This record gives sequence, structure tokens and C-alpha cells, in this order.
Amino acid sequence: MAPMTDRKLSARSLGLSVLSFIASISTASAKIASTGLSVNFNDVDYYISPFSSGKVDFKAKDLSKVPTVLGFKPVTVVQGGVSQKDVSKLLTTWTETDDVYQEGFAEAVFLAESKGKKPRNIIAPRHKGPAKPDSTSIITTKNTDIPSGPYFLEVSTGSLYPVYRLYEDFAGSFVESLIPTPDGKFQVMSAQTSGSASLTIGVPSRLYFTKTEKKPLAGVRIGIKDIYRLAGVKGSNGNRAWYNLYPAANYTGPAVQRLIDAGAQIVGLQKTSQFANGESATADWVDYHAPFNPRGDGYSDTSSSSAGAGASVAAYEWLDIALGSDTGGSVRGPAGVQGLFGNRPSHNLVSLDNVMPLSPTLDTPGFLVRDPEIWEAANAALYGKNYKSLAGAKGKKVKYPKKITTYQFPTNANTPVQKLLLEFADNLAKFVGGTVTASNLTNDWVSTAPAEAGGLPLNQFLNTTYATLITKEQIELVREPFYRDYAAANDGRRPFVNPVPLSRWAYGDSVGNDVLQEAYRAKATFMSWFNSKILPGVADENQCSDSLFLYTQSQGGQNPRNRYRNAPGVPFGFSAGRISVFAEVPDVVFPLGEVSSFSEISKHEEVYPVAVSIMAAKGCDGLLTKLAQDLVAAGIVKVPKAGGTLAGGKVLMRRGLEGVHDHQ
Ligand SMILES: *[C@@H]1O[C@H](CO)[C@@H](O)[C@H](O)[C@H]1NC(C)=O
Ligand SMILES: *[C@@H]1O[C@H](CO)[C@@H](O)[C@H](O)[C@H]1NC(C)=O
Ligand SMILES: *[C@@H]1O[C@H](CO)[C@@H](O)[C@H](O)[C@H]1NC(C)=O
Repeated sequence: MAPMTDRKLSARSLGLSVLSFIASISTASAKIASTGLSVNFNDVDYYISPFSSGKVDFKAKDLSKVPTVLGFKPVTVVQGGVSQKDVSKLLTTWTETDDVYQEGFAEAVFLAESKGKKPRNIIAPRHKGPAKPDSTSIITTKNTDIPSGPYFLEVSTGSLYPVYRLYEDFAGSFVESLIPTPDGKFQVMSAQTSGSASLTIGVPSRLYFTKTEKKPLAGVRIGIKDIYRLAGVKGSNGNRAWYNLYPAANYTGPAVQRLIDAGAQIVGLQKTSQFANGESATADWVDYHAPFNPRGDGYSDTSSSSAGAGASVAAYEWLDIALGSDTGGSVRGPAGVQGLFGNRPSHNLVSLDNVMPLSPTLDTPGFLVRDPEIWEAANAALYGKNYKSLAGAKGKKVKYPKKITTYQFPTNANTPVQKLLLEFADNLAKFVGGTVTASNLTNDWVSTAPAEAGGLPLNQFLNTTYATLITKEQIELVREPFYRDYAAANDGRRPFVNPVPLSRWAYGDSVGNDVLQEAYRAKATFMSWFNSKILPGVADENQCSDSLFLYTQSQGGQNPRNRYRNAPGVPFGFSAGRISVFAEVPDVVFPLGEVSSFSEISKHEEVYPVAVSIMAAKGCDGLLTKLAQDLVAAGIVKVPKAGGTLAGGKVLMRRGLEGVHDHQ
């Protein structure tokens, strides 16, 4: 792939090219490169990649009727030995299945020769479908390397450039919009569509990509939390001083690289609460504005730290999945309040090299996603050999555990939330042919705790464990080198840090190494107790887990972002959400539905997501993803849509004047 020549720069960059030309006379060292071009085509904003997909031969007269902008013409490539009579039908399908493709690209079609069969050259066949205008030119081409789809053809060179459609990040969920470069790095996507203080995200046509066994994520559009380093891209960890201090990463960490190798298309880096510590909108998010939760009245907190991941997948149909991370709930929280599937995986399934740590002892990379099929493929790609998939072929037949355990679940179905949770547990039990048992971990601990626990109740034994691990480890691995590097570069100064990480780190500074060692021991003690007494694995790999362990993830609360809050504290205590953190077991979120409540912001009833968390024995991640697929197939769980509600619909903050005009 070759970069565009500077002769074909956009109007916007033309001034720069002239200046550089003058400079090059005197210095002979000027460097200039296209960063792409943006165009508006039939009222849709597009970005033309600066990296060519290949060349085609044509005669100028073949394309004389096709419009030109700055030396480019919109065209279509059709591969795969499609016969001329089927082209029209195919292009109609494309307009329905790909948000980037539009009828306008069909004015000129490059039809690749199939082996042996050569379509007749340049004719304008009669056709019925709407996707192909009467003036269509069909040109045969021998080039079979260029994927099917829409392109902009550089008339002067015959080079075809891929097309991205531009979308506004109205939920404020991204920090940088990216495209891949031919050398395996990333660079900024340089176009901007209209939006109010929003970034623009570009997504490539889905038609360029074909899923294969080696590329199960081909064309899957993904956002990446801004703690994973990408080659060629500066990261922030939610901190502006960090962004400015450090250079772009020189390599992509192995976790994200696996997704790229599987064909995933990274469209941008997404907001994290600072240093992946939990923060509340709007008070705590000082360096960057918190993303917006599209559900309900549009002003509920997104939960954090994978806040951009949750907001974007809940808001945008054009985004398939997001990679977040979960140390103490940073995937599960955003998945719950935004009505998405999400997973905290078993600990240590894949290296987190070149990812900012909160606590390596507890950090895990996980996804937020609407479609469980994509979830399964993404898990298999990210966790590799450590992922025991139970989906599909290879002679494996899942055998679900018949024991369903609930923890801190409602005891009666008086409210719509309780009803949703209890109905789900019942339906699940029926589905697996088993029974539901309510558990009381506090009591179980009292009766079976190991001697190392010293007779302490669970909430005292583990009270400071999480707070100690995340602060002591992050202070050493992140804060200390950051403060040192920043001071060295800025005459001894301190960088700005948000109140939440500062208050947590202050706790870490206040306790000694003995407390840290004690925290390691407490975590290990709890893990071995829980994983043997409460949620053990089983030898049969088609079942994997002795039981399924359920707790409440999200209860349809509002948590409005326009509240003045107390000063941030330290995350002491023990709760259901800490179990998987310490026990290293997979903990996934399923959206169950929505409940209605009155919003003091919209002065209207709005609906908010209810979600359950389900844990299985350590290493049984594949069992839970398979369960999501099977419960969707059985109609027990619904695939959530992007939009204002789980059934889709406009996001409240995006509602326009259509309704007003209708009533005038
Ligand atoms: C990235 O840069 C660091 C620091 O300069 C260097 O030690 C490392 O070898 C580089 N890694 C790669 C993959 O280029
Ligand atoms: C567990 O049992 C204790 C003591 O019997 C009780 O105080 C507590 O509320 C119970 N917890 C749950 C989650 O049922
Ligand atoms: C947890 O630790 C904090 C800080 O030491 C303390 O204030 C709180 O009372 C403790 N809670 C329990 C349940 O032990």
C-alpha cells in the first residue's frame, strides 16, 4: 500500500502543501504526507483513507459520467466471480447490510474476472434494483486482490482508496479517532463531521472484510480503553499531563495485538476514569469530561472505569464491541447500567504487557458488547489457548451445571426489578433443568472459614484488601515513575491528578508493606476457600463448573450526573462484586430488561437497565459466553440494541425537532 501523492491533497491541506514546497527549496528536507481527505457524498460524510488498496486500469471515457471531487471518483469493486446479471441484486444487498455503502458508489463497478469466465466489457445492463443507477458502467478488472466494496478512485493514478463513514461521538466516549497504517501502527483519523464538542469516528466499510477461521473478527469494529497502548499512538490513562509527557507507544501490547491479528478494526481509543480508578460523573472527572450514558434520560452516570466502552457500545449501532478492563468492577459496572453483555474474565488469561496497571494481582481485560456471537469470537481471540470455548463444533456438547446459587438476591417479587431478577433465576433453572438455592456467604464463611482467617467475619477479614492492593501496586508501578519523569521534565513540578486517585494513593501511602503482604495473604485465603467450598470446578470439561453463582448487578437506578457529591473516599469493605476480584473467577453481566422511573431531569418516565452477574468456576469463561448465546436463542435473554432503550430508539440527548414540526 502506498501513500497518496501530495498532488492530490484535499482543498483543506492545499495551503500547507504550497508552504512546504517553498520550504523544500531551501532545506530539501521537508516531509509531507496526506492524512486522508474528507468529502460529503449525497449528504453522507466520508473519509478517504490515505492508504491505497491497489490499482485498476480503466479508460477515462468509461467513467466520464461519474462525478469527481478533487481528482477522486466514487466506484465499487465486486470480487468473487459474480455474473453481471447478479451485480444489481448484490449491490442492493450491500446498501442494506453495510452502513458505509450507498447507491452513489454504483455508478462505476469494477467487476473482477472470475477464473476462466470473463464478463463482457463495459455495458450498461438493464436492471430493476434501486442500487444501480441507469448510467452504471461495468468495467472488468484483472486485479483480484482488492476486497469488494466502495472506494474512491484517484483518477490520475488508478489507485483505489478505502472509504470510511464518519459518525459523531455524541456520547463523548472516545479520546482519539484512529485508522490503521500499512506498517501495523495507528494514526489519527483526520476528518471531522458536525457535532457539539464531539470527536468524529470513522468506520471502514464492512464489505472489505470476510470472516475466516484465521480472522474470526474480520471487520468487527472495536473501541479500545485508553490504558492499552497502541503502536504510534499517545495514551493518557485519563490524565492530560500523562498524555503530554510521554511519546507515542512504539508497540501494541500482546492483548490488543491478538484482536488485530484476528481481524478486528480499531476505530479509536476510549475514555477511562483516571488511572482506571472508579470515578463518578461529573464531580470526579476533572481532567476529561465523563462520557454520557445513552439510556434513560441520558444523564445517568456511565459507571467506570471502562466508561467510554460502555457508553459507546450502548449508543452506537455502528460500533460492535469495546475492550475495557476490570479490576474491581470496571467492565461489570458500565455493562450493568448501560444494559450490555460484559465480562470480567478469569484472572491471568492473557498478558497485560503495555497496559497501564491498577493492580496486576487483580487486573483483567474484558469486553462490553451487544451481540453474544461477537463476544464469543472476541473472547476466543483475546484469551487464546486459555479460553475453553464451549460454542459450536469440535465434539463438545455443553452440560450446564444444575445448581443455581443466588447471593443478595431479592426474596420476593414485589417490584418490577425483583420480578426481573427472580424470573431470570427461575427461567435459568428451568433451562438447565436444575434448581435455585439462595446462599448466605457470611454464614458459610462463619461455619467453614480456614484457620488463617482468625475467626474474623468476611467483611472485616477482606475490608482493606482491595484498597491496599490497588493503591500499593499502582503507586509503585504508575505513580512513582510518572511523578519522577514529570518532575524531571518540568523543573521539579507535580502533574495534576484527579481527586479520586489522589485520595486512594494517600491511603496507600499511609499503610506499610506489612499491610500489603497481609492483603496478598487475605486474597489467597479467600480465593482458595471460595474456589473449593463455594464455586469449585468439575472434571467434565463440558460442564466445567459445579454451579452458576448469581448476584444483582444493576437495579435500574438513575444515578444522575448533576449531583454535588461527598469528597472521594477509599474503597473499603466487601460486596458481591469483590468475589470474582479476589477468587479470580469469571464474572459476566447479562442485561435482563428495563424498569421505568420518573426522571427529575426530563420530568418524564424513563427506562433504566436491570442486569444480573453470573459467575462460574475459575477457567470456565467459555461456559458463560455459551450460556449467553443459548439463553438468547431460547428467548430468555434479549440482545440489547444501541439507543435510548434496550429496544433501540433515539437517545434522549439527541432528540431533534421532528416531533415539534409534526405538531405545528
Ligand atoms: C520501545 O522503546 C523502548 C524504550 O526506548 C525500548 O526499550 C524497546 O525495545 C522498544 N520496543 C520496540 C518493540 O520497539
Ligand atoms: C446472612 O445471614 C445473616 C445472619 O443470619 C444475616 O444477618 C444476613 O442478612 C444474611 N445475608 C443475606 C445476604 O441473606
Ligand atoms: C474498614 O476499614 C476502615 C479503615 O480502616 C474502617 O474505618 C472501617 O470501620 C472498617 N470496616 C470494617 C467492617 O471493618
